[in-house]
Amino acid sequence: MKTIILYGTSHGTTEKCSKMLADKIGGNPTLVNLQENNNPNLSEYDIVIIGSSIVAGKIRKHVKNFANKNVEALLKKKVGIFLCCMEEENPQKYINENFPEEIVKSLFAVGFFGGEFIFEKMGGLERFIIKKMSKTDKNVSKIKEENISKFAETVKKLK
Ligand SMILES: Cc1cc2nc3c(=O)[nH]c(=O)nc-3n(C[C@H](O)[C@H](O)[C@H](O)COP(=O)(O)O)c2cc1C
Repeated sequence: MKTIILYGTSHGTTEKCSKMLADKIGGNPTLVNLQENNNPNLSEYDIVIIGSSIVAGKIRKHVKNFANKNVEALLKKKVGIFLCCMEEENPQKYINENFPEEIVKSLFAVGFFGGEFIFEKMGGLERFIIKKMSKTDKNVSKIKEENISKFAETVKKLK
């Protein structure tokens, strides 16, 4: 089964996690940054994986646009969603609040891959907010590789 991974990222963490996921799935899945190409041709793919980071409770705009305009096409595929975010208690709420309900109900896999704060990539306001929130200006990396591996295993079971 052919797999495509579509992602939206602000500072590169979701891109990094998408590449890690692609390596773990194997077989060279196609990787598309939805900010660079918001109209990927889904027709040749059976498995569509959508990844986004969360900023101020929201998925990336290009991911939202893509999901909203492709509901019908996505319902014909096996769809999985993963998020990169720092929320640990209830990250599922971001999926429920940001993606069309029909898609959320149809998912074969959901993953929460953790996140990073990379201060040198942030704008001034972002840096100010995150520094206050996390009470440090040191970079933080909390990527959950075990969750990426688990997600990849679920994808491989479909193949
Ligand atoms: C300005 C800002 C706001 C954020 N807001 C949230 C949030 O509301 N919830 C959350 O869980 N993580 C939040 N995060 C953490 C990001 O999801 C995390 O930094 C992620 O790794 C960013 O990935 P990206 O570089 O692919 O965009 C925020 C990060 C920044 C910089």
